[in-house]
Amino acid sequence: MKPDCIAPDTTLRDALARLDATGRGILVIVSGAGAALRTVTDGDLRRLILKGSSLEDPVSLLPDRAPVTAPEGLSRVAALGIMDEHHVDHLPVVDAGNRVIEILDRKTLSKRIFLSSPHMGELEREYVDEAFRSNWIAPLGPNVDAFEREMCEMIGIRAAAALSSGSAALHLSMRLLGVGAGDSVFCSSLTFVASAAPIIYQGAEPVFIDSEPETWNMSPIALERALDAARAEARLPKAIIVVNLYGQSADMDPILQIADHYGVPVVEDAAESLGALYKGRPSGTFGRLGVFSFNGNKIITTSGGGMLVSDDPDLIDRAYFLSTQAREPAVHYEHKEIGYNYRMSNILAGVGRGQLSLLKDRVAARRAIFETYRSALAELPGISWMPEPEWSFSNRWLTACTIDPDVAGIDNRSILKRLADEMIEARPIWKPLHLQPVFEGCRYYRHGNESVADRLYEFGLCLPSGSNMSPADIARITDKICSCVG
Ligand SMILES: Cc1ncc(COP(=O)(O)O)c(C=O)c1O
Repeated sequence: MKPDCIAPDTTLRDALARLDATGRGILVIVSGAGAALRTVTDGDLRRLILKGSSLEDPVSLLPDRAPVTAPEGLSRVAALGIMDEHHVDHLPVVDAGNRVIEILDRKTLSKRIFLSSPHMGELEREYVDEAFRSNWIAPLGPNVDAFEREMCEMIGIRAAAALSSGSAALHLSMRLLGVGAGDSVFCSSLTFVASAAPIIYQGAEPVFIDSEPETWNMSPIALERALDAARAEARLPKAIIVVNLYGQSADMDPILQIADHYGVPVVEDAAESLGALYKGRPSGTFGRLGVFSFNGNKIITTSGGGMLVSDDPDLIDRAYFLSTQAREPAVHYEHKEIGYNYRMSNILAGVGRGQLSLLKDRVAARRAIFETYRSALAELPGISWMPEPEWSFSNRWLTACTIDPDVAGIDNRSILKRLADEMIEARPIWKPLHLQPVFEGCRYYRHGNESVADRLYEFGLCLPSGSNMSPADIARITDKICSCVG
């Protein structure tokens, strides 16, 4: 008999001892044939004793009450639904003969696995405490200065501005490069909307560029074709926003060569690729300006925050100016142009400093998670992993793959649904921006005859990749995928 199951003639004393030993707060009384008769909690036994029963009486004195049970193979979400409906926190799972297979409990069932959740270390709190102790509770202060300096040292760049978000950094990059109404800006299509939104903030027109299959990032072929066409129309873009998707650098050499040839500055949207390398050099340091995000889901986080970096300190000086409401140096608050309130707070910069000191560990953890997925799912048909060219060292921010439904026997959307039913958060690959209703009518340049970005969106899947996931969490995910693929 299972440890959570007892016979009707079990004494109250033994039942209490069993509850104590299992520590689960519930037992199931089962018949001689193993069928579930009713559940028993501490409270049920206490009430019997208060009514005058002795510890030597059998649990069969409890009134008959058919237990709420669930059939085998129910998803977590469905099991939690039954618990909610019946206001219970435990649910015996029974087979066709009403025999107990296991008892589910709400606490374990509701443990959700997130796509990429924050992973704090110990130093963060010390820096934040120091901000409180010294009363530097402001969008400037020693943590902000140190965070910028430490970031510059870490990635080998001359200047950095800590900001309220990666989006703010991208917006400033557009302002710094003089993007305005009537201009166009080229941007990777396969990315999050934040990459392109600042083009619209500035009243300019986005033109989207396809990915290449080797990196999933901006296709140099499509970029060149788009620049050729723009030159023919005497309308070269004011900037090119190159995104490093899911922690992997775009192939920067050919992209920079083409951009230089046409004299167009590059902004590297490295929101997802902090800690990654391109040909041994840190991602985010290749463009005229580089952008990082410390949003809660990123490889390191300040809950919300971003950084704008450049080897041109004058550009970053102007970013400081614009991000603090463009205040002229006068005591009476003089303004000659409009700026923003975009600086990072000294408290959040403290979190950032602690997190930055852990970046190498976090990259190693995410890469290890990717390898665990790859080996656990190696035998499954129809799964292909996001490639990592030999010149690339990806931070594997998210483990991304594509599913060929004809070979796998299931498509990415169905896998997503099955994982969601198990309280596991996975996502499709970004919906390309040229397919977004808000960008309808914008120009788009494909890599070849077919759009690579469309194909990746159609078949792609991002798996949970947080560096604080346990081996048991990963096993829960891979077991579920194995059970539905092939
Ligand atoms: C590619 C990309 N660009 C920009 C951003 C915007 O960063 P933030 O959320 O810090 O504004 C994000 C993430 O959120 C992103 O993934």
